[in-house]
Amino acid sequence: MSAALPHSRPPREVSPAAAALTDSPVWRDLSAHRAELATTSLARLFEINPRRGIDMSIERDGMVLDYSKNLVTDQTIRLLTRLATDRGLGEGIAAMFAGDRVNTTEDRAALHTALRADASASVPVDGENVIPAVHAVLNRMSDFADRVRSGEWRGATGRAVRTVVNIGIGGSDLGPAMAYHALRERARSGIDARYVSNIDGHDIIPVLRDLDPETTLFVVCSKTFTTVETLTNARTARRWLLDRLGDPDAVGRHFVAVSTDAEKVSAFGIDPANMFEFWDWVGGRYSVWSAIGLSLMIVLGPDAFEDLLAGARTVDDHFRTAPFEQNLPVLLGLLGIWHRNFQGAQSHAVLPYDQRLALLPAYLQQLDMESNGKSVDRDGHRIAVDTAPIIWGAPGTNGQHAFFQMLHQGTTPTPCDFIGVLTPSHSRWEHHDLLMSNLFAQTRALAFGDLDEFDQRPAHRSFPGNRSSNTILLPRLTPFTLGQLVALYEHKIFVQGWIWGVNPFDQWGVELGKTLADRIHGELRSDQPPGFDSSTSQLMQRYRRVGRL
Ligand code: F6P
Repeated sequence: MSAALPHSRPPREVSPAAAALTDSPVWRDLSAHRAELATTSLARLFEINPRRGIDMSIERDGMVLDYSKNLVTDQTIRLLTRLATDRGLGEGIAAMFAGDRVNTTEDRAALHTALRADASASVPVDGENVIPAVHAVLNRMSDFADRVRSGEWRGATGRAVRTVVNIGIGGSDLGPAMAYHALRERARSGIDARYVSNIDGHDIIPVLRDLDPETTLFVVCSKTFTTVETLTNARTARRWLLDRLGDPDAVGRHFVAVSTDAEKVSAFGIDPANMFEFWDWVGGRYSVWSAIGLSLMIVLGPDAFEDLLAGARTVDDHFRTAPFEQNLPVLLGLLGIWHRNFQGAQSHAVLPYDQRLALLPAYLQQLDMESNGKSVDRDGHRIAVDTAPIIWGAPGTNGQHAFFQMLHQGTTPTPCDFIGVLTPSHSRWEHHDLLMSNLFAQTRALAFGDLDEFDQRPAHRSFPGNRSSNTILLPRLTPFTLGQLVALYEHKIFVQGWIWGVNPFDQWGVELGKTLADRIHGELRSDQPPGFDSSTSQLMQRYRRVGRL
C-alpha cells in the first residue's frame, strides 16, 4: 500500500444462519423475557425464593458454581437451554470430542480434549486413533522431566538443571506461566521456572542477567516455530549461552523444543531428538495440556501434571454428559450470552480471590477473545449479534481498591466471575478469613446494593445493586482443581462460539498486524521515506531520527 488508504468495504451480508438466530422464536422469546425481567430485581428474586442460592448452585467433583446472583429466573434458564438445543449444541459438543473438523477455516479438528483423555480412549483423526501418540509423548515428557529433576540430565559442564526458562508467546506461554504461578509452591525439585515471551528486550535481558548458564535449560515452545518473538528470544538465549560457555555443543544440553514442526526445529539448530511433539489439531491457546506444559512437568513432577489432566478430564466427562441445565460450562456460556446479547454487557470481569491465580485473567483473555472475538461466522457471513466480550480482571482484594468503583456505580453492566479457594495452602487464617469475607461481601453488595438505606443516602453514596455475578469455589488450589477450572472456561467458550456460529479455533485476525510489522521492520532501517499513511510514516521517521540514535 502506498500513502493512499483503501476505501472501506461494504459490510458483508448477514448469514442466513445468523439471521435465523435473531429471527428464531427462542431469540425473540428471550428478548421479550428480558423486558419482563427489567421490572424485577435480584433482591425480589431472592425474596420470592429464599432457597434460590441453594437451588442455583451446582457442585461437580468439589468445584462449585453459584449462579444465583445473576439477574435470571428459571424461565431464563429454560429459554437459554432451549436456545442451546435449537442451535444444535449437543451435536456440536459431540462433533468436537469425536475429532470432526470443527475448525472449519483451517480444516482441522480441535482436540485438546484428546490430550487429557484416558489411555484406553479412542479418538480418530483421519482414520487413526491419536491417543497412543498423545500418551507416547506424555511418556517421553515424564521420562525427560524425571531425568532433569533427578539430576541425571546434566548441562554441558556436568551440572544439574536449576532453572527452566520457557520461551514462547500467547498459548505457548500464558498457559504454563499461569499454571506455574498457581502451583509453584508445590515445586519440591529445587528447580524453578521463568517465562519469557515479549519481543521487547526488557523481558529476556533481566532474566538472563540473573541466570547461571551452566544450570539453565531453555524450553523453546512454538506450535509453528515461525513466531518472530519466540525465535528472536531463542536466538538471544542461544547466543548468551554460547558466549558464556564457549562450547558450540552446549546447545544440545541446554535447549529443547516443543513444536509441531520438526524441520523448523532442526533448522533452528535444536536436535529433533530434543523435541517434544504436538499436533495441528491442538490450538495454541488450548495447548497447556500438551508438551507445551513441559516446564510445568519438570518443576512440579509428572504426577502433578497427570493430576492437572485428570481435573480437566472430569470436566470433559461432565460437559459431554450432563443435561444442559445442570452442566457447568453450558450454564456459564449461556449466562454469558444472556449478559452480552440481552443485557448489553460489553465486558466480563474475572476476579480470582487468590493471588496464585493472578495470571488467570490474562490467560482467559487470550482463551476467550482470540477464540470468539470474531465478526464472521463459520460460513464467512457477518454475524448479526455481538460476540466475545472484553475479558479483564485482577485478583481480589487488589481490584477492590482499583476498579470496583466502576463495577458498583458505573454506567455499564459488567458481569463478574468471583473465584475463591476454600482452604489456603498456608495456615494464616486471619488472612484467609478476611480475603473470603471480601469475596462474599462484594458479590452481595453487587447483587443487592444498600437496599435498606438506599432512600436515605445521597445519590453519590447509594448502591443500586442488581449487578450480576457468578461465584466459583474450589476446595483447594491443586493441579486437579486448576485443570477443572481451565477446562470449565474452555468449554464455556466453545458453547458461546457454537451458539453465535463462530469458529473458536482460528485466529486470522492477528495475521495482518504480523505482516505489516514485517514490512515496517524492513523499511525502518532504510533511508527512503516510508510509504505508509502520514501517521505511520511520521512515527517511523521520528523513530529513525531519535530512537535509533
Ligand atoms: O498471536 C497468534 C498466535 O498464533 C497464538 O494463537 C498463539 O498462541 C501464539 O501466536 C504463538 O504461536 P506459536 O506457538 O506458533 O509460536
